[in-house]
Formats: sequence, C-alpha cells, structure tokens
Amino acid sequence: MTLNVKKAELHCHIEGAASPALVKAQARKYGADVSTFIADDHYVWSDFTEFLAAYDGAAALFRSEEDYALLARTYLEGIAAQNAIYAEIFVSPDHAAAAGLTAEAYLNGLGEGIEAARSATGIECRMIIVGVRHLGAEKVEAAARLAATRPHSLITGFGMAGEERFGRVADFTRAFDIARDAGLGITIHAGELAGPESVRDALDHVRPSRIGHGVRASEDPDLVRRLADEGVVLEVCPGSNLALNVYPDITSHPFDALRREGVKVTLSSDDPPHFHSSIGHEYQLVADAWGYSSAEMTGFTKTSIEAAFVDEPTREILL
Ligand code: ADE
Ligand code: ZN
Repeated sequence: MTLNVKKAELHCHIEGAASPALVKAQARKYGADVSTFIADDHYVWSDFTEFLAAYDGAAALFRSEEDYALLARTYLEGIAAQNAIYAEIFVSPDHAAAAGLTAEAYLNGLGEGIEAARSATGIECRMIIVGVRHLGAEKVEAAARLAATRPHSLITGFGMAGEERFGRVADFTRAFDIARDAGLGITIHAGELAGPESVRDALDHVRPSRIGHGVRASEDPDLVRRLADEGVVLEVCPGSNLALNVYPDITSHPFDALRREGVKVTLSSDDPPHFHSSIGHEYQLVADAWGYSSAEMTGFTKTSIEAAFVDEPTREILL
C-alpha cells in the first residue's frame, strides 16, 4: 500500500547516496583502496565521526564530471523506481575540491545526471549547495558566495551540514545572510546530534524555512510549539537517526509526536546506503510504526512539495 504512494525527499547528500558497489567500481577505476570504510558490500563505521570519514572516503573517488553524472543518475533512477517524483540533493563543492574537481565541473556533472534521470523517468530534482560546518565559517561563507552566484540553474537552496557540535550557529550567520539575500531557500542541520538549544540557535540566527533533522527539538515543548507556530518544516530522516543511535528504535522516535503537535514533518533518507535505507524504506518504517493511511502518507509527500525549493510552475505540476 504505502510503497505505491508518490514520494519526495528533501534531504539526501549526493556523496552519501553512493552505493558501496558504485564506490568499489570507482576505486577500481582509480586504483584506490576502500578497505578502511567498505567491507564486502556495506559501509563500515561505528559512530558519527567514523561515518563522516567513510563519507569523505567515498566522495574522494568521484573525480570527474562523468563520475558525478553517473552518481546523480543512479541515485535518482533508483528512487524513481520507488515512486519518488521529486528530490533535493545536498551538493558539497568542498568535497569536489578535495577530489580535485572544480565547482563548475562538479555542478555540470550533477546537472547532466539530473537531466538524464528526468528524461528516463520524469523525476524532478533540485540542488542545495551546502557548507561543511566543521571546516569553519570561512569555508561555509565561500560556499554561500558560490551559491549566491547561481552557478547552475538547478541550484535553488543553501544549507549547512557536517559536525553540528562544532562552533556556534552565530559564527555562520553571514553565510546564511549572503544566501538569503540571493533569494535561495535556506535549510540547516540542527537537532540531530545536539539538543534543542541547537535548533533554537538555528531559528534565531539563520531563520530557515526548513531544518535538517530537528528531531531533538522534541525534548523542549516550548520549542515544539514555536516550530509549529512558525510553520518550520522538519526534514526528518528516521533511518539515519536509528543508525546513528539517536533513538534506540522507531517507536522511541519523535516523528509521530511532532506531527501530532502540529509540526510540519517530511521524510528523507539522508545518506541511504550508509544507513541501510532508501526513501521507500523511510516511508515503510513510519507507516508500519504508526499505522498511517495512504492519505496520511501522501500528506507527507505534499508537505515536502509545498516546502520544496522549486519554482512555482513545477510545484503546481508536482502537487
Ligand atoms: N553530512 C552527511 N550526512 C550528514 C548528517 N547526517 N549530518 C550532518 N552532516 C552530514
Ligand atoms: Zn543530512
């Protein structure tokens, strides 16, 4: 039942969407060793820091425009087969630079993959440039300045990922001001591994329309009310939260409690193969846990499309 509903995801890191099989093929292409972070056909890490290292290791093996076209196309055609009609991908020029690729080649490659997947399946996709928090405010500002130039027509947003416990949100205000002034949609990772104060800081200093994760806001009833009152949309990634041990099991996860408090919640896969997930799996996980109807599941998709950083004509078609 739920597997057939139309789906959308707003929160997927493109480098984190590379399957171990694809990364191993890239390693063969470049004569690299992946044994520190891939064993057989799965990623190996045991905590968030090791996860970030595995993520960086995989990203380092995408080194050309064609590599990124293949990655974007593979990911999008995979989720289109799960009845996804729309996706936003986080793209990280810092990861491309670390692999020796210019931002232009990186974004062009991703754009080619997106166009190829759209031609093959009809799926729509937009890109959100992210700065990496633990690289510091200067790097995040540079990512924002790049985003503000709209270096590709499919770039519609700006965000920040990385280690949430690094620095203070206030250190990054200027980056978000640059992106907002350029008319980009704004999202920020907060309340994933850090608590409610991280979400409150994000709201106060960044004024995002969406928050990546945000689930730990559930520990503070006043903050939950604020999220509901202000209509801030949460990009919830339950499978990621379980894999990273933020919650021990799905019944302990606050997705349904937040929904019942009137917070706008959506579903995404974050870094799907790292967390043994996919957008289809995320939908199934919450449907099984809380017995949502097809109409309720479709409602999450509708909330995603309404919150998407996409032009109005496309939004109308998707809705
Ligand atoms: N980068 C990739 N995945 C991430 C996550 N779940 N949290 C923060 N930064 C990330
Ligand atoms: Zn994320």
